[in-house]
Amino acid sequence: MTTISQLPYPVKYTVDSSKKNPLINIPSNKQEYPQSNQRPQFSLINANTGQALKALTLQNTLANNCKTDDLKYLILNMLEARHPQTKQHSIGVAIYAKELAKELKLPDEKVNEIETGALFHDIGKISLPDDFFNQKNLTPGIVFLCKNHPENGANILSKIASLSKPIINIAKYHHEKYDGTGYPNGLKGEEIPLETRIVSIADAFDSMTRKKYPNQKVKTFEEAIKAIKENKSGQWDPALTEPFIDCVTRK
Ligand SMILES: [Fe+2]
Repeated sequence: MTTISQLPYPVKYTVDSSKKNPLINIPSNKQEYPQSNQRPQFSLINANTGQALKALTLQNTLANNCKTDDLKYLILNMLEARHPQTKQHSIGVAIYAKELAKELKLPDEKVNEIETGALFHDIGKISLPDDFFNQKNLTPGIVFLCKNHPENGANILSKIASLSKPIINIAKYHHEKYDGTGYPNGLKGEEIPLETRIVSIADAFDSMTRKKYPNQKVKTFEEAIKAIKENKSGQWDPALTEPFIDCVTRK
């Protein structure tokens, strides 16, 4: 099993169709997996939420008949088509969240559920316009749409019968903050499900250290660790910060 300490830092992920990825189990026979430099034309680019959801009904029909590995492939493919950096980020979050879940000695089934939820947590972003991803002309309308992405994502995932409630809740609540100042519901403390609190900290760490958008200031590994440790904003469950730091700094 590959561990975080064996991965290049910040976590980089490229699809090697000749190998099976031990962490996310993307089927190895998907030769056609699109790379960032081969982005397919995708009908959801610049689609509004309604159009995106309509198109996704078709995807969901397919998704409901998918095995979990195929579903991961399908969703990552959609993220790749819309914004490759968001796909890379989702994989990074899944790796960190899985390591934290293992550090907490959660049962294997729960660890897998958290990994899957982390991979899918930002799926609601697929219907955001290009200006969001380019960080240009960020109008109040775009900011509003962006704030909607957790609920949008939960709506998308809730149409896939095989996905559990904790997985859907990871998408829905991953921008809630432990101190109650997050969105969409302003949940506080343990009102936020444990699975989501685990993904939140992994999401923040990967976001701080990965360049997803132009002009984004990226923190070093050490700066990001410091930010998690200080937890100044009260964003994360204080009981999780130490185990998280332990598992990303060990070795
Ligand atoms: Fe998000």
